[in-house]
Amino acid sequence: MPEKKVIAVIGATGAQGGGLARAILEDKDGPFSLRAITRNASSDKARALAAGGAEVVEANLDDEASLERAFRGAYGAFCLTNFWEVFSPEIEKAQARNMALAAKAAGVQHLIWSTLEDTRRWVPLDDDRMPTLMEKYKVPHYDGKGEADAIFQEVGVPTTNLLTSFYWDNLIHFGMGPQRAEDGSLVFNLPMGEKKLPAIAVEDIGRSAYAIFKGGPQYIGKTVGIAGEHLTGAQMASALSKALGEPVRYNAVPFDVYRGLGFPGADDLGNMFQFKHDFEEYYCSARPIDAVRALNPRLQSFEMWLAAKKDQIPLDPA
Ligand SMILES: NC(=O)c1ccc[n+]([C@@H]2O[C@H](COP(=O)([O-])OP(=O)(O)OC[C@H]3O[C@@H](n4cnc5c(N)ncnc54)[C@H](OP(=O)(O)O)[C@@H]3O)[C@@H](O)[C@H]2O)c1
Repeated sequence: MPEKKVIAVIGATGAQGGGLARAILEDKDGPFSLRAITRNASSDKARALAAGGAEVVEANLDDEASLERAFRGAYGAFCLTNFWEVFSPEIEKAQARNMALAAKAAGVQHLIWSTLEDTRRWVPLDDDRMPTLMEKYKVPHYDGKGEADAIFQEVGVPTTNLLTSFYWDNLIHFGMGPQRAEDGSLVFNLPMGEKKLPAIAVEDIGRSAYAIFKGGPQYIGKTVGIAGEHLTGAQMASALSKALGEPVRYNAVPFDVYRGLGFPGADDLGNMFQFKHDFEEYYCSARPIDAVRALNPRLQSFEMWLAAKKDQIPLDPA
């Protein structure tokens, strides 16, 4: 049997990279082996990956030399940044540059960059439909990633941009699930008006990335947009009602109200939802479901995701 090609996965202990890590490990006769990259090889998640057959290597996105060591000998690299840890597009761009330079130096043949749109291409800073944040961004956690796309090109790494979408798993882990109103009924709050929100089971981000690595060079230089389904808030509430066995009402939260909720990043997320709302046609068409299903035939719909995960959605007691 030919020797397996190593895929180095940044974020293997997290949501997106974890899905890719599991896809590689599950495909025992497949062409790839997993090198899980983490800052802490002795964490429970890193140990679990090692127990499952992964090589675990320590590196830090802030340290280019550590990344070069971690990428050496790898065929592929899956690269992401975690805005919600650093709250800074500047740091995300610096980390993207570190990954690009390290991958170039290590001779990585296929890099997947988990990215999002630079929304300023659609909403310039002087467009006052939404506030400018951090002085030069509209949606900081999008814009920094979108701006970083050019870094991988500039450095000359064979790259596929993976344009991700909203995780349904945010209903479990990001406090975005239905909430109990004072009268005990369940309300699903989302600032999407009547527009469709492209979203995905986070596991399918990893599976799609895996299919792109398997597809190989045909994807280099391309942007692949992914989602599991495009649904309105009302459609999501209706699927939630069915899955949870009690009525869930959609509440289309106004963007300004969402921006003012006060939690860290509320303004960024408020602008993000407004971008998805105002540019629905573009945003959905960049994530075509049929093409994603052709790439990843196990692609889950919201209903499928709910069937598997509904019990994990925290609901305040009535
Ligand atoms: N939530 C959504 O709906 C959504 C949708 C699309 C895109 N995104 C984007 O997804 C990104 C986060 O990805 P995720 O949800 O997969 O993250 P996650 O589950 O929070 O995990 C973060 C991962 O990144 C690794 N990491 C973070 N900082 C690192 C550093 N300095 N050096 C090395 N590794 C580092 C962590 O590894 P260790 O801790 O083991 O070192 C961990 O595996 C964010 O930038 C967000 O904007 C989110």
